[in-house]
Amino acid sequence: MMQTELDLFNPTSPQPPQWVAARAVVLPGFALPAVPVLLPALRTVIGEAPFRHMVTPGGLKMAVGLTNCGRLGWVSDAQGYRYSPVDPLSGRPWPTLPEALLRLASSAADAAGFEGFVPDACLVNCYRPGHRLSLHQDRDERDFTQPIVSVSLGLPAVFLLGGHKRGDPTQRIELRHGDVLVWGGEDRLRFHGVQPLKPGVHPLLGSRRINLTLRSAG
Ligand code: SIN
Ligand code: FE2
Repeated sequence: MMQTELDLFNPTSPQPPQWVAARAVVLPGFALPAVPVLLPALRTVIGEAPFRHMVTPGGLKMAVGLTNCGRLGWVSDAQGYRYSPVDPLSGRPWPTLPEALLRLASSAADAAGFEGFVPDACLVNCYRPGHRLSLHQDRDERDFTQPIVSVSLGLPAVFLLGGHKRGDPTQRIELRHGDVLVWGGEDRLRFHGVQPLKPGVHPLLGSRRINLTLRSAG
């Protein structure tokens, strides 16, 4: 069997990083070894802080389901976007950031050249077929010298990486189950989004894509 065929059938075989900008890189399959520990940890998080549809400051209900774990969680409502130490649904602190996720995020950041990354917030997004995320910048965090580490699970998606202006051209980047995307440095404030999720069924997650974005927010 040829190496490329082997890779197709053995998704845990290491694949080289794909640099998509000077300080933005896809680490294909980087999270796969952690998946057996991540999924039960994620189930605990969602049990404590269920997915909900937040409302934009403009009054639109977001299609993508959202929750958080970590010391801080990202929230949106009529008052605007911000990080909060409390889940507004329960009035309690957000669930603890699972240790396995913390380790995964730090080692992915290391692999991307951002040493010493310690996230204090993890947004958990749940996409169903047809759900998209329009182009935006992640700029609610305090320290833009820290990168964003994004872990994709479940159905594949096309991630759009734009420039520093909303109208700049975008690159289409396929993100599959277990892929990790890290962006920081001069690329930290690039516009980005997700194209409408194609229908499908993932063997572990069903007809969903779950994306975890780890940030240093506070
Ligand atoms: C985000 O930009 O917050 C999420 C990106 C993704 O779902 O890949
Ligand atoms: Fe984002």
